[in-house]
Amino acid sequence: MRTLSCLSLLLLGLALTQAAALHQTHQEWREFKSTYTKEYASEEEEQSRFAIFLDNKRIIVEHNALYDSGEISWELGMNEFGDLTEEEFKARYLGQVLPKENKENCQIYRGWIETPDSYDWRNEGAVTEVKDQGFCGSCWSFAATGSMEGQYYRGNGELVSMSEQNLLDCAQNWGCNGGGRSDITLKYVHENGTNSEAAYPYEMDQDSCRQSSNDPIYHCSGCTYTIVGSEDDLRMALVDEGPVAVAIDASPLNFMFYRSGIIDDPDCGTDYPDINHAVLAVGYDSEANGIFGSKAYWIIKNSWGKSWGSDGYFNLAKDKHNMCGVSTDTALAKAPCYQA
Ligand SMILES: *[C@@H]1O[C@H](CO)[C@@H](O)[C@H](O)[C@H]1NC(C)=O
Repeated sequence: MRTLSCLSLLLLGLALTQAAALHQTHQEWREFKSTYTKEYASEEEEQSRFAIFLDNKRIIVEHNALYDSGEISWELGMNEFGDLTEEEFKARYLGQVLPKENKENCQIYRGWIETPDSYDWRNEGAVTEVKDQGFCGSCWSFAATGSMEGQYYRGNGELVSMSEQNLLDCAQNWGCNGGGRSDITLKYVHENGTNSEAAYPYEMDQDSCRQSSNDPIYHCSGCTYTIVGSEDDLRMALVDEGPVAVAIDASPLNFMFYRSGIIDDPDCGTDYPDINHAVLAVGYDSEANGIFGSKAYWIIKNSWGKSWGSDGYFNLAKDKHNMCGVSTDTALAKAPCYQA
């Protein structure tokens, strides 16, 4: 009798705990929907999105348990991608970057300079606000404008946000399908220039080319590559020349819910066809790593909005065998950049 009542109390307790957990989960779902202004066409769609949200929550919790115990060096967190599956995320935001064709006429970076222990172009005022490519695989245009903005700033002392929409509409026919190349985009900027973001704002969709000479047109003088696979060369070029467009393997399990810390995954791809996203390396630093030394990282600007990652940025392990292909396929806008 006594054991029985203990058991029923235990069961009642479990049921209450489960009900409380369910209540909390629904509460989190409501908060998620209101934070990211999510609306679904039907009750069925909402139910299936809720199930995906729960899966993603579990992935985040499991990953962060390893982060908390020091086995993984980066932390995940829920964000606006919480109701997307890995496959949907890939299809919407990533796209295989096409291999270099070696007819882009970019020059090879030939500097050899001493570099400081850490560097950050944001501290020099050479980096614009984090932008948001939205539901469009146009990362290549954001990486290209990022490098151009830095180079223009260095030459002219003025930070001008350049137009991705101009490049999306005019530079090539990649459109929102991903896979675009920043070097070829910089070739367009060399020949034809681009308007500013203010004059030609972002629309998240490809449209007809409306580049206008009634507004200022900004040019750079071509593009520069760093040596394929050399993080030393990338570091020197970055300090010497400015923020560098880099192509990486941004596979969802590592990047989709990145929140903070240093992405360091030995399984991250370093070459085509794994390379699927273009971003902007703006600096590097290192952090203390126990008593054994320090863990170096690249500081990289993404184009998934400010609520993603660390205010729109992420850190990627540096000098760890070309982590995620950071030095495989790079492009820098070539000076001088000028307004025509
Ligand atoms: C520059 O613009 C012209 C005219 O629209 C176009 O034919 C050419 O391909 C552009 N240059 C590049 C490198 O895309």
